[in-house]
Amino acid sequence: MSTHHQHEVVIVGAGGAGLMAALYASRGADTAVLSKLYPTRSHTGAAQGGIGAALGNIEEDRAEWHTFDTVKGSDYLGDQDAIEFMCNEAVPVVYELEQMGLPFSRTPDGRIAQRPFGGHTNNTTKKPVRRAAYAADRTGHMILQTLYQQCIKNQVNFYDEFQVLDLILDGGRAAGVVAVELATGELHTFHAKAVVFATGGHGRVWEVTSNAYAYTGDGVAIAARRGIPLEDMEFFQFHPTGIRKLGILITEGVRGEGGVLINDKGERFMEKYAPTVKDLASRDVISRSIYLEIRDGNGISGKNYVYLDARPEVINQYAALDGRTKPDGSPYEVTAEELLGKLPDIVDFCRTYLGVDPVKQPMPIQPTAHYAMGGIPTNMYGEVVIDEKNTVMPGFYAAGECACVSVHGANRLGTNSLLDIVVFGKYCGLRAAEYAKNADYGAFASDAAGDTRARLDAIRSNPGKESAADIATEMKDEMMKNVGVFRDEAGMAHAVEKIRELKRRYQDVGVQDKGKVFNTDLLNVWELGNLLDSAEVTAVAALARKESRGGHAREDYPKRDDKNWLKHSLAWLKDGEVKLGYKDVKITKYEPKERVY
Ligand code: FUM
Repeated sequence: MSTHHQHEVVIVGAGGAGLMAALYASRGADTAVLSKLYPTRSHTGAAQGGIGAALGNIEEDRAEWHTFDTVKGSDYLGDQDAIEFMCNEAVPVVYELEQMGLPFSRTPDGRIAQRPFGGHTNNTTKKPVRRAAYAADRTGHMILQTLYQQCIKNQVNFYDEFQVLDLILDGGRAAGVVAVELATGELHTFHAKAVVFATGGHGRVWEVTSNAYAYTGDGVAIAARRGIPLEDMEFFQFHPTGIRKLGILITEGVRGEGGVLINDKGERFMEKYAPTVKDLASRDVISRSIYLEIRDGNGISGKNYVYLDARPEVINQYAALDGRTKPDGSPYEVTAEELLGKLPDIVDFCRTYLGVDPVKQPMPIQPTAHYAMGGIPTNMYGEVVIDEKNTVMPGFYAAGECACVSVHGANRLGTNSLLDIVVFGKYCGLRAAEYAKNADYGAFASDAAGDTRARLDAIRSNPGKESAADIATEMKDEMMKNVGVFRDEAGMAHAVEKIRELKRRYQDVGVQDKGKVFNTDLLNVWELGNLLDSAEVTAVAALARKESRGGHAREDYPKRDDKNWLKHSLAWLKDGEVKLGYKDVKITKYEPKERVY
């Protein structure tokens, strides 16, 4: 038996997208949030450098420039109507967060401070523009805390440490979810008029990743198993600066503050690859440049990493060479004390995990799997769409990293993920509440949890001749090697076969812990199943796309091919296979051009 609950709007996930959706939904409907974590431990808290908005607090900026930069950054795969909508909404939503009490860093005259970030430019001069509004290097953490407080004030119902395992459909509409309560192992059913997925990404598919352990693609896998296609899954972003081997994020804000990338010869190599914006090119460009340097034998001591140098004297030296100035026109210079104030967490991470003091030593970094551009397809109000014609599935919404609106296309600009979660979280919440006002509850079978229970029992009773840990390691290795920054036909074909082999072996995985209370052994196996589904769809969609675009860089098809591939992929998981379809990209103002940084 399972315990039954009913709420008009049920939101799955308590990161920034889930909490923003909850805040807005709760103003018009009885709203519940289910999260497998305690809400303030959600991965939004790991976002560091800033949220993009053309506030123009320090220098001239325009929402129109932000829109163009995002379209260009997406390698023209982003839907331009949604991008324009997001960039126009950015300014009011940042002020809204400020009014909720978010403690942004400040300019000397008290306005929200802003720093440069990769790919964000003054469209006239082509130089980097200060567009990232930040709270030191804890911007995501502050967004999370602020939104959680607002949700508590608004009496949102929270079910903490409830992990959602299934989506219940009534014909063609969403009707609720099935969740396991971690503390007891009991199954709960949640009957809802509207369901919002804000479950985050699936970066744990790769070996070196900035993603939290919890980022196991739960939402995308559940949706795919319920017949909903996944969009643009071949596009996964590698952030250029993860701590070597560990993958922990070193914010792009370090380069925004003047940090530079240096190879073994002591060269600032980004001058070669992006002569105008250099270390502030878009992430796909920089991650590829780092790999090329390593391939050319310019990794530090011939190894697979380079340095990110943020020592004040180095920052000041390159700022002078670049002619960088402060807002008042004086030469740009930083002191160690200023860096500590602006990047306290980064300094702390490096001291703690590496024994490296960034104020005195360069940081060893390598690209790290960071962000899913693809996910559950939605329109710009967060409504899930289920086919090439963008047909809406009534009552089902998605926002944040698990969703594909698509505002990031083939490559996301830094700071646009925090923006995405608050803008589309908000519209999801508004739409879900509005829908709930006029809808009734769909049909909900008395044993809606039966399927889930059977699957959990099957894992529990499996004799377990295979090990989940081995399968996870092999999947991560394979994806890192063959579906990483650079890709080719043979490697991706190998990955598809390998993931299929791992999926077969997964059927023989069991658990040692047969109990119910906080059975993380069982849930890790469940999550591995979600990761394998995400990995398979990613590899199959990547193998099919015969071009290079944004985060999908093929050595055998090194050019972007707009004639044949300016289209979104849709992938259905059907009868154990991945079926692919495609749909148009929405182009409004900006015809695709070659990207130059
Ligand atoms: O570099 C960073 O601070 C990450 C930001 C982002 O992914 O948007």
